[in-house]
Amino acid sequence: MGKEIGIGLLGYGTVGAAVAQMVQDHGFRIATETGTLPLIRVAGVRDTSRHRDPMPPVLTSNLLEVVEAPEVDVVIEVMGGMNPAGALIRKALQLGKPVITANKMLMAEQWADLMEFGGELHFEAAVAGAIPIVETLSTLVATQPITRIEAILNGTTNYILTQMRHAGKTYDEALAEAQALGYAEAEPSSDVEGWDAAYKLVILASMIEGDARLVGEVDRDGITLVSQENIQKASAAGRTIKLVAQYERGDLTVGPVALESDHPLASVDGVENALVIEGPALGRLMLRGAGAGGLATATSVLSDLIRVIRRRSEQ
Ligand code: NAP
Ligand code: HSE
Repeated sequence: MGKEIGIGLLGYGTVGAAVAQMVQDHGFRIATETGTLPLIRVAGVRDTSRHRDPMPPVLTSNLLEVVEAPEVDVVIEVMGGMNPAGALIRKALQLGKPVITANKMLMAEQWADLMEFGGELHFEAAVAGAIPIVETLSTLVATQPITRIEAILNGTTNYILTQMRHAGKTYDEALAEAQALGYAEAEPSSDVEGWDAAYKLVILASMIEGDARLVGEVDRDGITLVSQENIQKASAAGRTIKLVAQYERGDLTVGPVALESDHPLASVDGVENALVIEGPALGRLMLRGAGAGGLATATSVLSDLIRVIRRRSEQ
C-alpha cells in the first residue's frame, strides 16, 4: 500500500472547504505525483452544527484536538485572526508537525518570532492567492538584491474598483459581490482600508531583506474615499485607479494610484493580482493570476502540501 498523509484543518470556511474539495477531487493525482495520498482527517470550526460541503470525516470545535490528533501529520491553518491561530500553529510546530497557513495578518505581525520558532512553516497562500510568489521570491532573493516590487495584492479592492469602473456598480454593491464570492476578509475593512495589502507587502519585504519589517512601517491608505467620480475622471484622462503596493529600496507604501493605461498593472482587472519584480540581473519580471477565492487559494495551500510531502520523503 502507498503512503498516506493525514491533514488537520483549522477552519473550514471559504478556503478550508476549497482545500477539502481539491483533496477530494485531486488526491489521487497528488498520490501519483508524490507517492503519498492526502486525506482530510478532521476539521476545526466554531459552529459544528452547520452543514459543510464536502463534509469532513470529523468536525470539532476543539481546535487543540485537531492539532494533537495522532492521525494528523500536517496542520493547515485557514481560520484567520491572531488568536487562537498563532498559539495553535506554535503548538503544532512544537509537536514536530509541518504547518501550512494562509494567514497573512499573523505572518506579517509575528514574522520575527515565527521565523525563529523552529519547525516547518509554509505560507504560499498568504500572499496573492494562486500566484506562486513566495516560492518564486525565496529563490530570487538568493540570486540578487530585489530592488523594487510594484503590485496589486488585494483581490477584493481590485474587484471593487473594476466593477465601479466597467460595470457602473456602486462601492457598496461591488463590496457585497466580493464578499459573496468569498474574496473578502471576515472583517472587510482589512481589505478596503489597505491593511490586507500591507500585510502581504510586509511579508514580501521581510523575505527580501531577510529581516522582519513592521506593519506600522507601511505608509498605508485604502480605497474607501475613492468615488465613482474619481474613477470616471481618471478614466477620461486615460488612467485607471488601482490599489498599488510598492516596495522601493526599503520604502513600503500601499494606496490608490491613477496608473497610465500602458502601465503593466493597469489592465489587471477583477479578482486578479499581479506583481512586477525588479532586480539588477533579472530586469523586470511580472507574475499575474487569481488573487483571492477558495479554489485559487487552495491551489497555493496544496502546492505547500506537496512541498511538505516531498520533504518528508527525503527524510
Ligand atoms: P472564512 O470563510 O471566514 O472561514 C474561517 C473558518 O475558520 C470558518 O470555518 C470558521 O468557523 C473558522 N474559525 C474562525 N475563527 C475561529 C475560532 N476562533 N474558533 C473556531 N473556528 C474558527 O475565512 P476564509 O476566507 O476561508 O479565510 C481563512 C484564512 O485564509 C484567513 O486568514 C484569510 O486571510 C486567508 N485567506 C483567504 C483568502 C480568500 O480568498 N478567502 C485568500 C487567501 C488567504 P465557522 O465556519 O464555524 O464560522
Ligand atoms: N481578502 C483577500 C483579498 C483574500 O481580497 O485579496 C486573499 O488574500
